[in-house]
Amino acid sequence: MKRASKKPLLRALEPKPIGILGGGQLARMLALKAHELGLKISILSENADDPAAQVAPLWQRGSLSSKQDLGNFLKTCRLATFESEFLDAGLLAALELETKTPILPRPADIGLIQDRLTQKQLLEKHGLPTAKFHKVESADEAWWARMVLGGETSPSRSAKNRSAREPAPVVFKKRRFGYDGYGTFVIRTQKDMEAFVAAELTKKSAHGFIAEEFVPFKREVAVMLARSSNGQTRLLPFVESFQQDSRCLWVKGPLKTNARFTALAAKLGKFINTVGYTGVMGVELFETERGLLVNELAPRVHNSGHYSLDALSEDQFTLHLKCILGQELGEPKLNAKGFAMMNLLGSSTVAPTWRLPTDARLHWYGKNENRPGRKMGHINALGATPEGALAVVQRERRKFEV
Ligand SMILES: Nc1ncnc2c1ncn2[C@@H]1O[C@H](COP(=O)(O)OP(=O)(O)OP(=O)(O)O)[C@@H](O)[C@H]1O
Ligand SMILES: [Mg+2]
Repeated sequence: MKRASKKPLLRALEPKPIGILGGGQLARMLALKAHELGLKISILSENADDPAAQVAPLWQRGSLSSKQDLGNFLKTCRLATFESEFLDAGLLAALELETKTPILPRPADIGLIQDRLTQKQLLEKHGLPTAKFHKVESADEAWWARMVLGGETSPSRSAKNRSAREPAPVVFKKRRFGYDGYGTFVIRTQKDMEAFVAAELTKKSAHGFIAEEFVPFKREVAVMLARSSNGQTRLLPFVESFQQDSRCLWVKGPLKTNARFTALAAKLGKFINTVGYTGVMGVELFETERGLLVNELAPRVHNSGHYSLDALSEDQFTLHLKCILGQELGEPKLNAKGFAMMNLLGSSTVAPTWRLPTDARLHWYGKNENRPGRKMGHINALGATPEGALAVVQRERRKFEV
C-alpha cells in the first residue's frame, strides 16, 4: 500500500528528543502531551523540581540566557521549541546555525513578536486591525503621545507646555518582558502620568515603551492559530477571556461569531501563511463597538487555549507538537456545546489545599511555592452552554484554597 505522505514516519525511540526551553507550566503541558503521543521530550530549566522537569524523562539544568547552556542543550535535541518569547532571539538564531538543531517557531519570528513595537508594526504591515500607537523613548515623547492618543489635535512636543484639560486615558506598555499586566500602565489622570514618568522615564529605559490609545472594549476575546511546517493551518474557536488586575481569570466559549469574526479569521489565516510561521500562536483581541482589534500576539501555546485540553478533539499542545514536526493536523472538534477554564491564581504564600473537583477537570502545575497572583493550575469544564460551563468552574473554584 502507498503511503499518503512523503514525510518520514516517526521512529520509536528516536535517538534525540524534542527540546523545550523552559520548565514552567506551558512546558509541562507540552511534555505531558508529548508523552501521550510517544514523543521523547527534554527540558532545559534551572531547577530539577520545575513544573516541566517533574514530568519529563530528560532534563538538563541550565540558564535560558547562557550561550553555553543553550548550545549544549540544543546539541542533544533533534529540534527545539520554547514556552516563553522572552529569549535572546539573536543568540538563538546563531545557535541554531551552529548546532544545526532547528528552533520552532523560528528565532526571527520570536524577535519580531517579543518587542511590542515591532509586533505592532507587523500587525499593521499585514493589515490586522490594532489600536493606534506611538514609540516612546523619553519623557517628552511620553507627554506628547498622551496628548495625541488622548485626542488632543495639535499638542506641543515639549513637556512644559501641557494642556490644562485631561486628555482621554492612554496605555503605556514596556516594549519587552511585559506579562500578566506587569509592564502595562493605564494612565487616566495628570497624577498617574506624573507618577509614571517619574518612575519609568527619568532614567533611560533599557528597551523603551509604546503608548497606545485606550480601547473601551465590550469584552476581551482570544483565539489560537496553528500552522504546521507542512503548510496546514488551523484556527481554534474564538473565546471570551476575562482579566482581573490585568491577569486572565477565566475563559469561556465558543463565542457566537458574526461577519466581523469571520473576516478577522480570514485575515489571521492569511497572516500566518504569509509570514510562514510554524507552531501555535495565541492572539488576544478587544471587541469594541467599531469591531475587533488585535491587542497582542504570543508566539507559543497560550493560557487562553488551555480549555482545549478538555473541550477539543485536538488540544493546543498536541497541535503545537504536530506543527513543529511538520505532521498532519487534525481538525479540532468541540467535545461539548460550551466550555470554560478557570485559572487557579495564588492569593497567599501558604501551601494550597483542595478537594478534587466533581464535574470539572483539574490541571495542577506542581509549583513548589504559592504566591499572590501566581498561576498554580487551572480547571476546565464542559457544559450545554458556555455560561453553564463557566458556572461549573466558578463553583468548583471554591473548593481550592490557593
Ligand atoms: N489599549 C488598551 N486599552 C484598554 N485596556 C488595555 C489596553 N491594553 C491592555 N489593556 C488591558 O491590560 C491587559 C494586559 O495588557 P496586555 O495583554 O497588552 O499586556 P501583558 O501584560 O503583556 O499581558 P499578557 O500576560 O497577556 O502577555 C489587557 O488584557 C487589557 O485588559
Ligand atoms: Mg495580554
